[in-house]
Amino acid sequence: MDSQSPKQVDAPPVIAKPKPKRNPKAPRQVLPVRSPEERVQGYAEVSLGFSLEQARIEALRCLQCKDPVCVEACPLHINVKSFITLMAEGDFEAAFQKISEESPFPGICGRVCQHELFCEKTCLLGKKLEPVAIGSLERFAADQHREMESSAPSSVPKPQGARVALIGSGPASLIAAYDLVRNGYRVTIFEALHQLGGVLAYGIPNFRLPREIIHGEIDRLRAMGVEFRKDVIVGKTYSVEELFAEGFEAVFLGTGAGLPHLMGIPGENLVGVYTANEFLTRLNLMEAFRFPETDTPVNVGKRTVVVGGGNSAMDAARWARRMGSETTIMFRRGRAELRARLEEIEHAEEEGVHFEFLAAPVRLFGDEKGTLREMECIRMKLGEPDESGRPSPVPMEGSEYRIPVDTVVMAIGQSPNPTVQRSTPQLVTNRGKITVDTKGQTSMARVYAGGDVVRGGSTVILAMRDGRAAAAAIHEALQDHQPTIATSAGPDVAGVAPGFSPALADGGLRSDLTPAPADAGLKPDATDARAENRILAKRLITPEIAWFEVQATGIARHWQPGQFVILRPRADSERIPLTLVDGDPEKGSITLVVQGIGKTSRVMVAMEPGEVLADLLGPLGQAATIENVGHVVCVAGGVGVAELLPVARAFRKAGNRVTALCGARSKAQIILDEELRSAADEVEWATDDGSAGMHGTVVDLMRAWKAKQTSPVGAAHVIGPIPMMRYAAALTREWGVHTMASLNPIMVDGTGMCGGCRVTVGDKVKFACVDGPEFDAHKVDFEELTRRTRAYLDQERQAREAHACQIGLGQ
Ligand SMILES: Cc1cc2nc3c(=O)[nH]c(=O)nc-3n(C[C@H](O)[C@H](O)[C@H](O)COP(=O)(O)OP(=O)(O)OC[C@H]3O[C@@H](n4cnc5c(N)ncnc54)[C@H](O)[C@@H]3O)c2cc1C
Ligand code: FES
Repeated sequence: MDSQSPKQVDAPPVIAKPKPKRNPKAPRQVLPVRSPEERVQGYAEVSLGFSLEQARIEALRCLQCKDPVCVEACPLHINVKSFITLMAEGDFEAAFQKISEESPFPGICGRVCQHELFCEKTCLLGKKLEPVAIGSLERFAADQHREMESSAPSSVPKPQGARVALIGSGPASLIAAYDLVRNGYRVTIFEALHQLGGVLAYGIPNFRLPREIIHGEIDRLRAMGVEFRKDVIVGKTYSVEELFAEGFEAVFLGTGAGLPHLMGIPGENLVGVYTANEFLTRLNLMEAFRFPETDTPVNVGKRTVVVGGGNSAMDAARWARRMGSETTIMFRRGRAELRARLEEIEHAEEEGVHFEFLAAPVRLFGDEKGTLREMECIRMKLGEPDESGRPSPVPMEGSEYRIPVDTVVMAIGQSPNPTVQRSTPQLVTNRGKITVDTKGQTSMARVYAGGDVVRGGSTVILAMRDGRAAAAAIHEALQDHQPTIATSAGPDVAGVAPGFSPALADGGLRSDLTPAPADAGLKPDATDARAENRILAKRLITPEIAWFEVQATGIARHWQPGQFVILRPRADSERIPLTLVDGDPEKGSITLVVQGIGKTSRVMVAMEPGEVLADLLGPLGQAATIENVGHVVCVAGGVGVAELLPVARAFRKAGNRVTALCGARSKAQIILDEELRSAADEVEWATDDGSAGMHGTVVDLMRAWKAKQTSPVGAAHVIGPIPMMRYAAALTREWGVHTMASLNPIMVDGTGMCGGCRVTVGDKVKFACVDGPEFDAHKVDFEELTRRTRAYLDQERQAREAHACQIGLGQ
């Protein structure tokens, strides 16, 4: 060989790996699970996942079809055949990477996707034998990857492309973020709640989908450059238009279907009746199962009936079993019509959940305290198929029967969250669902939507498919587009999307936001966001009532008198609503006045300037109705005086004469007298002990004051303790004066998702956090409101005492 010629290096001998031997006839591997006895004693994940051996055996069952229909059947088109081949070869990491080409969440989808309706349904092996357990294999690959990963996912260079805002952090937005960030877009996800994941976090229990799986898969997105802003409710904190004005080039609405349906039967507001959303949010998001270690309680009695037949029903029933309750799922159709994942139905049965098919509740009965005690039900038979394609349930006359029950959970479906739709009237909707074209384009230019907000309640995988389609459409719209220089108007946002042809539109939607200012102070950057929620100033008005000024730019820009915020002082606190007392848009600060009554409010009262509230969401609810009616009487008691201030000011600004009639226990308890005098034309006080003002209640004061009046009163506004509002309203009814009451029911999310704040007004059930908090005082069912606000009195006392012990005050 010529010495000048390049040296020939012998290629290493190729050692052909023995081809793994397929064995389609092996039985489908059974997913190991904890025993039912162990499950109901704790909260650990039920399914343990395949062993390595099982994963190999199961992967070898795959027929490796030339034209694998399972790939087409998967809404994300995961290359099932390829990843299973890699698993059969024992290369689990490569299998994980193969899945990740299409899906960012194999750990989540492997656990909660209804594989039996998609990929596994089409598996050829399933025609004669059982289909390959594709879902369990997907989960195995994800779990192996997580176990092997020695540290947090490594960060990649920050994307530099156009900015895209995704609203809601459920699966639809999460996959859209994954696809967009991979195409170089700068993505920010805005989430109303204090935890990310949407239904994955607040709806699906830990024992089905451990939180660390959700956090791990979201951390991967974070490492890829996706930014997350929690505690921002778009449509309230910022409008869609403002997002554009701040430089976002496209907006995706993945706000889900969180608005729970009610049964509409007598007694459904009794204490002990929950919507599935409230029940699950208390347990999953607020960890009520650890109360009093955590601050949020839940009442689960000895006998629970869960009404419904979907995934929420199974989840609620299985939680009830874990809380020690005898549990029945009542479903108006038969077993074949259940909509939940098969595995969850089987697990519920194994855990001792009893199923009552072909039956429905017609009425609920309570005791003298308004606590649920009994349920009247009716037997059903199946009739002709209805619009869902399932046989319709037909009540059998005369078949009514009664059962004793302490807890009822209504798991009968949800509608889209309404906040964005209400505040963005340009969006075409159909029965609350946002109308989109096949690419996810809404009626507004560069605004896209997908997931449950478009479909109504659906599934994780279909929400992800929508998120992916919208991300592709956004990429198509933006790829040749030069980033827009932010303007106050934003790019064409008021315009109708070209080529968009809406089907049906809701009428009567309106904007409940003040007009967007040119610079809304929206700062998606996490560093700036840290300044938010900081306590800027504090003043103790009385030993137990504190006045706070808090940095909250978005809330300060948009708040209106009558609105409120939901906050958590500490990361382990309950979510509590507080009325907005003032807001300074220039400074970006808001004013809150807090009375330390329960544990959480006491924790807040003890906080000092410089400390940062863990969460702060708002402004929530509707603004107070302010009109010029001539003379308005504003009535307040206790800390309600602080809450009255902005309303009194607004009435005066609207040209009214304002009289404030206020009550306190004693002279020492009188608060904010000076501020009130500058807000109202006339201020009078009554004290219970007569130490200042009139001796008596505020209602006595109202009577005495009215007796002196010669001119008519145009309207009244009452705020304060429920008994006071009730008696004040009874009096103004006698006077024939229209009266609004600002109500204070128990709230959890404050966004219309849990239904815990429901109140009866006239003959309608309203959600105070979205429809209120102000209602016609002459129509409010104050008795029911009183009972509902007392639902957790025992637990509150328990938490207060435990807190007093912790901070060394003794019992
Ligand atoms: C209890 C329960 C169990 C389920 N189990 C399964 C299951 O096992 N398998 C399955 O496939 N499907 C299941 N589903 C259905 C599935 O979870 C949903 O279809 C899916 O999560 C919808 O995803 P999404 O992204 O559209 O919305 P969501 O997951 O609902 O997320 C929407 C998010 O948007 C936030 N948001 C709303 N409005 C605003 C706003 N204005 N500003 C900012 N944020 C906002 C909400 O707080 C929420 O976090 C279940 C549903 C429930 C309720
Ligand atoms: S719906 Fe949950 S607090 Fe109003």
